[in-house]
Amino acid sequence: MRALFDLSGRTALVTGGGRGIGLAMARAFAAHGARVVIAGRNEKTLSEALPSLASHDRGHVAHPVDVADADSVRALHARLGSEDVHVDILVNNAGIDPHYAALEKTDPKDWDQIIQTNLAGVMHCCRTFGASMIEGGGGSIINISSIAGHVGLKRQVPYCASKGGVEQLTRSLALDWAEHGIRVNAIAFGFVETDLTRSILSHPQLGEMLRSRTPLGRAARADEVAGAAVFLASEASSYVTGHSLCVDGGWTAS
Ligand SMILES: NC(=O)c1ccc[n+]([C@@H]2O[C@H](COP(=O)([O-])OP(=O)(O)OC[C@H]3O[C@@H](n4cnc5c(N)ncnc54)[C@H](OP(=O)(O)O)[C@@H]3O)[C@@H](O)[C@H]2O)c1
Repeated sequence: MRALFDLSGRTALVTGGGRGIGLAMARAFAAHGARVVIAGRNEKTLSEALPSLASHDRGHVAHPVDVADADSVRALHARLGSEDVHVDILVNNAGIDPHYAALEKTDPKDWDQIIQTNLAGVMHCCRTFGASMIEGGGGSIINISSIAGHVGLKRQVPYCASKGGVEQLTRSLALDWAEHGIRVNAIAFGFVETDLTRSILSHPQLGEMLRSRTPLGRAARADEVAGAAVFLASEASSYVTGHSLCVDGGWTAS
């Protein structure tokens, strides 16, 4: 059974892999035998994160990318190609949630920024790296969604819309690319302790409200949610596609 989760000989690209949940997934992939590429906007963050993968040294690399920019995604793809790095596990993890406000107080520029990163960014990476997976005969794509893709959250219209879009992109693309041996799944996280949630989880009332609303009664650590990505990347999930796996402490069960 252990072999089912083995990622030896596979190469995983994790966007937003320099910190937070992305780095936790990158570490889990490396620990299960994969070569890992971490990518994000901030090169300093990436270069500080890379050594944490080194205990499983297989030539892991870190490269800059802005997933909201199709040219930047194409440049990353070309750079990896020139280094003979061929991605067969793509984790579309890069995401932002900078804005908590009712829609009437939301600047359309904030909407654009969130949709461009969280939804169009997933599309750019799927198009660019998926084309190589089609040529290569298969792969696994994991799109990082949220409970916000399954249920509404107050004052989070752009974020919920972006993650709802990721959910539907995932299902539709799974249908299109099943014939190419590419599985496309999503993971919908609940509240996980990262830079993204630091201010809300440490807020006395909001943090307590979110913990009490979560059946397991707490937010998750990033390292304890990374196993879901190993499952969806590996042969353990060979018959799973078009699925959204809720890793949310029970939030969407109620
Ligand atoms: N934390 C939670 O409770 C939670 C819950 C549900 C879903 N999620 C989702 O999980 C994913 C990771 O979240 P997190 O909590 O780990 O957030 P985080 O700690 O804020 O990390 C976000 C990552 O995305 C990268 N990123 C942001 N915009 C980017 C862009 N345009 N191009 C490339 N990389 C970009 C960041 O790197 P740079 O700044 O260096 O670019 C960073 O590595 C997101 O999609 C988020 O929506 C998180």
